[in-house]
Amino acid sequence: MQIPFLDLKRMDEELKDALKSKFAEMLDKGIFSGGDEVGLLECQISTFLKTPFSIACANGTDALELALRALEIGEGDEVIVPAMTWVSTAEVVILVGAKPVFWDTDEDGLLAEDWGKAITSKTKAVIPVHLYGKMVDMKSLMKRAKKHKLFVIEDGAQSFGSFQKGKAAGIFGDVGCLSFYPTKNLGALGEAGMCLTNSVVLNERMRLLLNHGQAVRDKHELVGRNSRIDSIQAGFLNVFLERFPEFQSLRKKLAEMYLDGLADIEELKLPSGILNVDHNCHLFVIQTTRRDELKKYLIENGIGTSIHYPHILPEMKPFSSEGAFPNARNLSEQGLSLPLNPWMKEEEIEYVIGKIREFFLKK
Ligand SMILES: Cc1ncc(COP(=O)(O)O)c(C=O)c1O
Repeated sequence: MQIPFLDLKRMDEELKDALKSKFAEMLDKGIFSGGDEVGLLECQISTFLKTPFSIACANGTDALELALRALEIGEGDEVIVPAMTWVSTAEVVILVGAKPVFWDTDEDGLLAEDWGKAITSKTKAVIPVHLYGKMVDMKSLMKRAKKHKLFVIEDGAQSFGSFQKGKAAGIFGDVGCLSFYPTKNLGALGEAGMCLTNSVVLNERMRLLLNHGQAVRDKHELVGRNSRIDSIQAGFLNVFLERFPEFQSLRKKLAEMYLDGLADIEELKLPSGILNVDHNCHLFVIQTTRRDELKKYLIENGIGTSIHYPHILPEMKPFSSEGAFPNARNLSEQGLSLPLNPWMKEEEIEYVIGKIREFFLKK
């Protein structure tokens, strides 16, 4: 059996037909920037996540940068960032002229509870990342941030559809940032992202910033940029949104199969809380000291896996910083993402389970 980590060609025909019809409809309308589909997407996401302002933009990295700029974070400021995340989270801090201060994660890759120790007189904000789709404990994080008067920018790039006590990932902080990169649970057929906020002022500022500082055409109020979403991507996302609940239940069902099938392997640490509502099953990350050996064995047996991520940020050249970061480092050395997506069949999950069992129990 050949099981790719993720192959978007495997999307079902019904979905492909709906996407083709949407493309044909938009081609006939001739509107490729702005327009009804963008407004509809923002409105649908606001309703689904229960947030007043959803601001579509070009990608998740831009969403984070727009948030920092709207909050006027820049030179001389420090921003606390987890040591284990996708590079964008730290990149944007440097792009606005501020300094990322890295802090270790817990064993699941979420900003460690004691992040308050990283606060200095220069700290302006903290960026919790809901890594792999699992939410940081936002009640406790918000409490500490409030006490120290810090802005909170949630990196919800991987956590669309996760909810904590009825509140969606991305709506706790001053700004929540989403990515609709094609591999995400809600992914476009190209690049797209979004900022979420409760603030009238931030909503206005982010909208200005992403459109060259113009509220109306040719009236520029500040220096912005072009980070508008493609209308076509907004249209595709509106199609994907209709199937989102169905795809989420498929992910949960497949994740449960993995949990049941792998529970008794002592050498494996399975993802905690993955069936809870505050985890959207974006990635199924197992941890083992024999990670590289297992990855090789699975490849030999036709199974694609991935590593999120093989290096911690503070040891990368552009971000190089001192510190131990033991949990983040462990994850970079021991974490392995198994294939999990709505286009997988149950037999395929069984096959992956079988091969992992074979590796640990028979070899
Ligand atoms: C945690 C995290 N932050 C930010 C981003 C950036 O999103 P985008 O690729 O849409 O720019 C990603 C995308 O993979 C991500 O996983």
